[in-house]
Amino acid sequence: MQKKKIEKFYKEYLSVKENNLKKWSKDFFTSLLLDKNVFFISLKNPVEGYLIGRKTLDEYEVLSLATDINKRRRGIGTVLLEKLVKMAKQEKIQRILLEVSENNSAAICMYEKAGFKTISKRRNYYNEGKKFNDAYVMEKNLVKYA
Ligand SMILES: CC(C)(COP(=O)(O)OP(=O)(O)OC[C@H]1O[C@@H](n2cnc3c(N)ncnc32)[C@H](O)[C@@H]1OP(=O)(O)O)[C@@H](O)C(=O)NCCC(=O)NCCS
Repeated sequence: MQKKKIEKFYKEYLSVKENNLKKWSKDFFTSLLLDKNVFFISLKNPVEGYLIGRKTLDEYEVLSLATDINKRRRGIGTVLLEKLVKMAKQEKIQRILLEVSENNSAAICMYEKAGFKTISKRRNYYNEGKKFNDAYVMEKNLVKYA
């Protein structure tokens, strides 16, 4: 991806207001997006949410997804996932994978509604404050549910 495009995406990424989530640095974001398999999806005017994903062979992985804190529960996260699934089907992707903290019930509900299923658990995956929390690995199988 061209550096100019990455800069535009970084501005969009920063413009999505989140609560206490620490945003990635420009250097980290740039190095990630320079990988030709990494993509950025956003809902625009103004930017209300974004999704960063990576393609590996016939799989997609969701690396990050967030919607603006002032615009939650309006279906924006779901629309981002719908866009991802549409793209995945066009690219003949077999499954979409992601990790989510066991404490993140909002995100877990959203993913379940979008057809994701928990397939495994990673112990002590997230360092959240002083505690380590497990992560659920969730999958949407596009072959089975296509
Ligand atoms: C998780 C997140 C992306 C959801 O975005 P959103 O735009 O609010 O999601 P939607 O409006 O599409 O919600 C879809 C469904 O998810 C569930 N959901 C979303 N937020 C919820 C909440 N706070 N509590 C309970 N269920 C919730 C609901 O079932 C909802 O459907 P409904 O509103 O019809 O009941 C958003 O809360 C967010 O950005 N959180 C911080 C970042 C994060 O946790 N990202 C996920 C990392 S894996």
